Amino acid sequence: ATERTLSIIKPDAVAKNAIGEIISRFEKAGLKVVAAKMLHLSEEQAGGFYAEHKERPFFKDLVGFMTSGPVVVQVLEGDDAIAKNRDLMGATNPKEAAPGTIRADFAETIDANAVHGSDSPASAEREVAYFFNADEIHSR
Ligand code: CMP
Repeated sequence: ATERTLSIIKPDAVAKNAIGEIISRFEKAGLKVVAAKMLHLSEEQAGGFYAEHKERPFFKDLVGFMTSGPVVVQVLEGDDAIAKNRDLMGATNPKEAAPGTIRADFAETIDANAVHGSDSPASAEREVAYFFNADEIHSR
């Protein structure tokens, strides 16, 4: 079924000048960018986005990293978009990511892991709405 998922190109990948290469992978896999913007997240924005991880030991570092530079947030649309995006990204820890995945090719550490993608339909709905108003999403 056609789904939408939220993708974030994180500060490490933006700093590496890899925005285009990463978006190319989405497009080549049949995912369409239906919304996109570059943001430099505040602590409040990053902390709210990752609220489910608030009690985890890595939360402070995660927020620190996600506010360290600009990110590109996008809504990807396509058949089975949530799982497809997660396949393209590879495992959260780049050291465990399969060859040819975005994290294997662009990421160095579990903190600086190049991309985020929604992990379920419920989180996709929440995450898309966290960054985009309905009139900023151009379904096609
Ligand atoms: P992301 O998919 O953006 O969701 C939460 C992020 O926390 C994750 O990617 C990692 O970059 C980061 N993180 C750091 N340590 C861990 C950990 N032990 N388990 C899961 N995520 C972690």
